[in-house]
Amino acid sequence: MNAVFLHNQNRLLAQLPENSAVLVFSGREQYRNRDVDYPFRVNSDFYWLSGFEEPEATLVLVKRDEGTYNRHIFVRPKDRHAEIWTGYRLGVDAAAEVLGVDGAFSSEERAAKLPELIKGVHQVFVSFSEADYWWPVLIPVWQGLKRHIRDGVDAPQGLQDLDGVLHELRLIKQDWEVARLRQAAAITVQGHLAAMAALAAGAPTERAVQTALECAFFQAGAERTAFNSIVASGANACVLHYTENRASIDPHGLVLIDAGAEKDYYAGDITTTLPARGRFTPQQKALYELVLQAQQAAKAQIKPGQPYDAHHRAAVQALTEGLVELGLLRGEVSNLIEQKAYERFFMHKTGHWLGLDVHDVGRYRVDGRWRTLVPGMVLTVEPGLYIAADDQQVAPQWRGIGIRIEDDLLVTETGHEVLTEGLPRTVAEIEAAMA
Ligand code: GLY
Ligand code: MN
Ligand code: MN
Repeated sequence: MNAVFLHNQNRLLAQLPENSAVLVFSGREQYRNRDVDYPFRVNSDFYWLSGFEEPEATLVLVKRDEGTYNRHIFVRPKDRHAEIWTGYRLGVDAAAEVLGVDGAFSSEERAAKLPELIKGVHQVFVSFSEADYWWPVLIPVWQGLKRHIRDGVDAPQGLQDLDGVLHELRLIKQDWEVARLRQAAAITVQGHLAAMAALAAGAPTERAVQTALECAFFQAGAERTAFNSIVASGANACVLHYTENRASIDPHGLVLIDAGAEKDYYAGDITTTLPARGRFTPQQKALYELVLQAQQAAKAQIKPGQPYDAHHRAAVQALTEGLVELGLLRGEVSNLIEQKAYERFFMHKTGHWLGLDVHDVGRYRVDGRWRTLVPGMVLTVEPGLYIAADDQQVAPQWRGIGIRIEDDLLVTETGHEVLTEGLPRTVAEIEAAMA
């Protein structure tokens, strides 16, 4: 096994009390419709701890005391018939050596072997986000152990949430993770450049733009998209997670493209908003420049020592001031912010953690306060403005415009690094690039 995953296991176990067990499940193939499965992508926690990519695997880590860690894994058994139909399996015999664990068993033996492996531990850690999965697995384990109480066997006294400990570790990216995020970001930039070229060449539909974008992702080495790509022409951009992508491109509108490549399991996440045929109208330009200005104000807040919400507050301030200047909001800026009047046009937060998951793990608030940024955190900065097509309170020329501008940032010792450089971002740069 790659040493980085063993290192992750050790870092996790070091945080846990003695006599603890950790159980992590890799996930299950999901049925889509008659004989068709969704493409399988392993659970991110499981990947971070093992590097193993197959479904139906369970990693069992036990910490007896500070010096004694035991590692076992359950994997799908070799099956000649199944492998002819659906592909290679590592199998039980190879698993211990390849995955660097003390022992491996068939996933079919899990119910029988699990009590033996965790016998004597006091606390069992599983992800409470997956409680519905773990509950039916664990009840018979407890019952089995309690049946042997007269033989001197102790059942665990506590079931604990793994997320709190594990996700705090995942939040701060190590150098090899940053390298992968950098690659995901670079590939994502390539995809967005291809999408822009497709639009400039007259792509007729959202789907045609999506195809150009994702083709560039895969050509540049992405394994998959990090999430369902959003290509939203005109007022479709006001649907925040629009993924139908089946409308024609409105030649007079903007096109909002929110898409990211996944490379070696790490996510990119970029939004570009472009004029369909290369030139902004005055209203589109005014709103675009306002969102870009808000993004710059937000980015300036990304540095060690800042509270997590500082960048959102900066974006809200810039957007509200701009909306008042454009006459889209009326009133005193501070009152409008207090009343959250901007939420009519900007209804989401300015970003999220980014990593193995596009909306990555890690708490945003700690002990009731926004947490402080530290080097190694990676987050998106993505303010937007969305004016509904049926908003009767604004003049018609503003309606149906949706804009978001999104980049991925690494918090560094001295401030931040934008991982997603290389796209035209100002109105002049975009119009020149699309001409
Ligand atoms: N692509 C989803 C997001 O930007 O949060
Ligand atoms: Mn995002
Ligand atoms: Mn996004």
